[in-house]
Amino acid sequence: MVAGASAGLGAAFATALARRGIDLVLVARQQALLEPLADRLRQLHGVEIRTLALDLAEPGALETLARATATLEVGLAIYNAAFAPLAPLVDTPIEALARVVDTNVRAPLLFARTFAPAMTVRRRGAIVLMSSLAGLVGTPRLAAYGASKAFALTLAEAMWAELKPHGVDVVAVCAGAIRTPGYDRAAAGRSAPGTMSAQAVVARTLAALGQGPRLVPGWINRVAAWVLGRLAPRRLAIAVMAGSTRGLS
Ligand SMILES: NC(=O)c1ccc[n+]([C@@H]2O[C@H](COP(=O)([O-])OP(=O)(O)OC[C@H]3O[C@@H](n4cnc5c(N)ncnc54)[C@H](OP(=O)(O)O)[C@@H]3O)[C@@H](O)[C@H]2O)c1
Repeated sequence: MVAGASAGLGAAFATALARRGIDLVLVARQQALLEPLADRLRQLHGVEIRTLALDLAEPGALETLARATATLEVGLAIYNAAFAPLAPLVDTPIEALARVVDTNVRAPLLFARTFAPAMTVRRRGAIVLMSSLAGLVGTPRLAAYGASKAFALTLAEAMWAELKPHGVDVVAVCAGAIRTPGYDRAAAGRSAPGTMSAQAVVARTLAALGQGPRLVPGWINRVAAWVLGRLAPRRLAIAVMAGSTRGLS
């Protein structure tokens, strides 16, 4: 299951899993992107793929998803969808802030809660929640997004400990910049140090399953996470994060 699968990292997860022969459920709002991706993967890899056009931020979306997958064995559940309005908090419309909470907090929480119980009964499975380096340090101009990614990280860490004895793995992926259509639009063609391809982040994530609750993909990002999250005075770390969003639009 890939929630947020129509483009960017989510499409790269779908592609890598189909290549391994894994049947998929792909969820996103834009059916016009999901279906061609699914068709291509079915033809290339002979896997079964269901697509579901769904706005995960809408009330009732997780119930719809649970009903649509009730007869399936979901062994790997990846929550990748996100909403990241880029502006100072006081300039961000309240509706956009509510949408950050609905997309990046409420939905992944209910998503994990929806798929974890059957995994614990089967005593196997894994849940991936996409977090970000912005979840480690306050990030000006992405304040609500960063806070939502901190939520994903602490949620994944706690669930990792709770579910490990039941044979179920949980990992939060604290990614730095990833070359996706969304990032390319915001960065206007520039790349932050340590920017990774979506395929590389997917490969690191799948390899990290079973290796602990948090993954920072890429060595430059691991150094950044260590320096900004632990070594640098907090004010300096926040200033560095402010610099990282200054060039984004
Ligand atoms: N790109 C980066 O530099 C970067 C860095 C750190 C962390 N991350 C994290 O990595 C993940 C993927 O990033 P990305 O750049 O690939 O994001 P993206 O380009 O915005 O793609 C997100 C995917 O989620 C879907 N989606 C968004 N809102 C949705 C909703 N309400 N309901 C259902 N589907 C929804 C989008 O498809 P539809 O539009 O069709 O719904 C798309 O398939 C995110 O969680 C992001 O926070 C990204």
